[in-house]
Amino acid sequence: MRILGINETTHDAAVTVIEDGKVLFAGHAERYSKTKNDWFTNDALLNEALSYGKPDQIAYYEYRWLKKLRIVTRGGFGGGKPYYLSRPELKWIPRTQYSHHESHAAAGYYTSPFDDAVVVVLDAIGEYNTSTIWVGNEDNLKLVKKYNYPFSFGLFYSAFTQLIGLMPNQEEYIMMGMAAYGDWKKYYQKVSSYFPSKDYQKYNFHSGIIDWDQEITEQDKFDIAAAVQKVYELRLWDFMNFARAKTQKTNLVFMGGCALNSKANTMLQDMFENVWIMPNPGDAGSSLGAAAACYGKHIEWKDPYLGHDLGGDYPVDKIFSEIMEKKIAAVATGKAEFGPRALGNRSILADPRDPDIKDKVNLIKQRELFRPFAPVVMAEHASEWFDMDYESPYMQYTPRCLKPDLIPSVVHFDGTSRVQTVTKEQHPGLYALLEKFYEATGVPILLNTSLNIKGQPLLNDEQDILKWERTYNFTICR
Ligand SMILES: [Fe+2]
Repeated sequence: MRILGINETTHDAAVTVIEDGKVLFAGHAERYSKTKNDWFTNDALLNEALSYGKPDQIAYYEYRWLKKLRIVTRGGFGGGKPYYLSRPELKWIPRTQYSHHESHAAAGYYTSPFDDAVVVVLDAIGEYNTSTIWVGNEDNLKLVKKYNYPFSFGLFYSAFTQLIGLMPNQEEYIMMGMAAYGDWKKYYQKVSSYFPSKDYQKYNFHSGIIDWDQEITEQDKFDIAAAVQKVYELRLWDFMNFARAKTQKTNLVFMGGCALNSKANTMLQDMFENVWIMPNPGDAGSSLGAAAACYGKHIEWKDPYLGHDLGGDYPVDKIFSEIMEKKIAAVATGKAEFGPRALGNRSILADPRDPDIKDKVNLIKQRELFRPFAPVVMAEHASEWFDMDYESPYMQYTPRCLKPDLIPSVVHFDGTSRVQTVTKEQHPGLYALLEKFYEATGVPILLNTSLNIKGQPLLNDEQDILKWERTYNFTICR
């Protein structure tokens, strides 16, 4: 049974192919169209997905007409006709739709290592649901609690993202980074008054915060970001406590766009015995979620390297000598990551000991100077360098760095690091590279950031590689 999972008509369109419980392919539309956060699938992406064979079933990630109804009656954005419907070869294939939150829940639970877990989904909004709690047990997913619009963690966060001049539904991660530089106390009360309750919201957040009555200086942006992050963390803590008490589960699966907030995710490690956040918890991951919901059982989950395949062995020696010589190397090889983070196959890797490397990488990436870079560390050494007793293979947590003076370029202003742990099984090539660097320097860590041209999606194919090399006059290892 081959299932084609589709997510489109809002930010981050994506396609997944599952066959008999194995993920054959999962890719983002933006990496084929080169339009960041592309709303629609396209022929190049669909052609690649269909090269795995004609699907027996199509699974769509939300109830299209219910969402349309909500947009007409309650506001919001999205919609339009999904592009995949224009493909004649897909016309007569049976189609099923799953609710927006069920697709999120299924993407999390069916890839998780848990048979028994509470599944929490928090995002901006699906059709009407904004926050749901499920119990996953013996491959069944049961909804136990739901909250509808206007109560929404995601809309709250996005509205403030817009208020401080960033792109809502895209640049929340920048606001999260800014929070470390602000004083949360200054605007805490005021920001807190905007957090919607079950049945009350000042007004429709889809249009942003429209009654902020004070001038916003550059420093205020950081203070507001800090207050929003604080309010979000406190409310999240309460919500998760409620979910745990209600279900009596010790395993947590956390999904939805809110699960990308690595700073807040970190505290969940203290509340639950085990936490699983699938590497693509936002809407793009729901292409896999819809397909998994259709399959209805745990799928074989190995790693997130599921996209376009550039082939080749991991160029360990090449990268190593570039880093030893120039302190910095770019790599594009094998299958592209499914999810927003570059986890080694479309990455810039650098020496984390060099305090100037941040500026060098920033010069290439031309991004805001306050934004931190992440470390990738051999899993067995993680607890020596970071305050953590868990794995973080997809850069989803920000523990405190224990030796910030030794690796200054991967430590955030507040002393934390967004860690990626890697084992030999997860990525033999990247692990071998770290091992080599460790032998040479005594540091089992490299800086890892995404390989992309500023403002563009992660590199995907040969053409992207050539364009990057031309733009920056910098050779990519492969
Ligand atoms: Fe969502």
